[in-house]
Amino acid sequence: MEILVGKDNLEATACDGLVVAVPEKAKLDGPLAALDKQSGGLLRTLMQAGEIKGRYKEFTIVHTPGAPFPRIVVLGLGDREKFEEDRLRSVAARGARILRRLGAHRIAMPTHSWLGVEAGRAAAAIVEGAVMGLYKFRKYKGSKEAPHEIASLSVVPVQGDDGAAVRRGVEHGRLLADAVLFARNLINEPANQMTPRRFAALAEQMAKETGLELDVLDEKAIKSHGMGALMAVAQGSEEPARVVVLKHLKGGKKSPVIGLVGKGITFDSGGLSLKDAEGMYRMYSDMSGAAAVAAAMGAIARLKIKANVVGVCPLTENMPSGTAYRPGDIVRSMEGKTIEILNTDAEGRLALADGLAYARKIGAQRLIDVATLTGACSVALGHQASGLFTNDEAFGKLVQEAGTACGERYWPLPLYDEYMDLIRSDVADLENTGGRWGGASTAAIFLREFTGGVPWAHLDIAPTAFMDGDKTMYASKPYLPKEGGTGVAVRTLVGVVERIAGA
Ligand code: BES
Ligand code: MN
Ligand code: ZN
Repeated sequence: MEILVGKDNLEATACDGLVVAVPEKAKLDGPLAALDKQSGGLLRTLMQAGEIKGRYKEFTIVHTPGAPFPRIVVLGLGDREKFEEDRLRSVAARGARILRRLGAHRIAMPTHSWLGVEAGRAAAAIVEGAVMGLYKFRKYKGSKEAPHEIASLSVVPVQGDDGAAVRRGVEHGRLLADAVLFARNLINEPANQMTPRRFAALAEQMAKETGLELDVLDEKAIKSHGMGALMAVAQGSEEPARVVVLKHLKGGKKSPVIGLVGKGITFDSGGLSLKDAEGMYRMYSDMSGAAAVAAAMGAIARLKIKANVVGVCPLTENMPSGTAYRPGDIVRSMEGKTIEILNTDAEGRLALADGLAYARKIGAQRLIDVATLTGACSVALGHQASGLFTNDEAFGKLVQEAGTACGERYWPLPLYDEYMDLIRSDVADLENTGGRWGGASTAAIFLREFTGGVPWAHLDIAPTAFMDGDKTMYASKPYLPKEGGTGVAVRTLVGVVERIAGA
């Protein structure tokens, strides 16, 4: 889809459909008055008759035969007081989907800055919403049934908008949304395609396109760095492990090095502590954290953010076999701590332990890890938020705020000292599980042991990384897919880096 910036003349915009959002009790002034004229007064009639109430999720198609556009899709925004920028993302996604269904080729949407949103931010949100909302993973579907696609979206500035800000916003939104789609594509590839080696090859291609520095550690390099925890997970698989390292060092000497570490289990069978069929089905998505980190690194490079960032993705399958690691095994991590394996299905924290240690080794002074780490986190939060754990309140807050600003929820969960007692081993330094209760927190406090005490945030995205027909999320955030990888955390990670860079 081509993304354009329209001319500051909404009612004269030639296209196949306009998307316009109205809050409850909307006044028909400014651009809306001009649109009403184009509809021959129909907009006013429908609003007066109460057919357009502006309630959130309401939608009305107003046909406008005499106008340069044949219809306006009017979407309700809800209570003006409760208006959040994220609603623009949702409205753009819904409007674009409705118009795609109607066969539209060219669609347009005004910035809606009359609602009090800064025009550049609004433009970015609109582009993000439409691009994310129109996404479908259909690489493996026959081409005969290829659905109609929208050719162009035009974001139309309205009176008083700073044109340059709108253009920057459109560009920013496009880059972020494309990064989200990149992550979704990685996640949605099944595990027979998206092996650690294939992930590394795609990361290499992306690094070439964006100018990121790239290092891929193969099994020899992994061994020479002493990554015994990652190696233990990998030893049951025919597929060799990889660690993908992406670097963007453009912040100068004074700016801290931020390490982003993503869990990259390309398939989690549970290992010898085998999952049941239902639990295993969607476990090709267990590399969503790594996908988010790689995609965010690409966007950080494309946006030329003045920051120092390294992305580290430990990648492996977790498989049962005659060479697989066993419950009871004791392994030595790169950081030096020994770990007694109680359950081979708690593999993510092992891969991340070495990923975190490696990130610090290459200079990271702040750490954020992103992982589909625990079912327990989904039990706690449902699909409505990711878990947020931190050893540094201010840093955690910065991450949470970056999330809120882009429509992603991260809910703080505790790291009480007592959780440590649950993962101390009699025979090694740590156990790899703390039992059933507080499973998200015991996993997180395990990771904290590998941060070396630098400011760190752990994002448990098990609740939000993959949609499995979850109606509530689809209905409230229509830019998320109903099925498949969401690309969660990509935009938040970029936002964190922008904040640290002061951009
Ligand atoms: N990848 C899973 C967690 C997961 C489950 C993510 C469902 C998304 C959906 C992780 O490796 C895992 O298996 N965790 C175990 C930990 C337990 C063995 C301590 C879990 O959550 O049951
Ligand atoms: Mn597991
Ligand atoms: Zn896993």
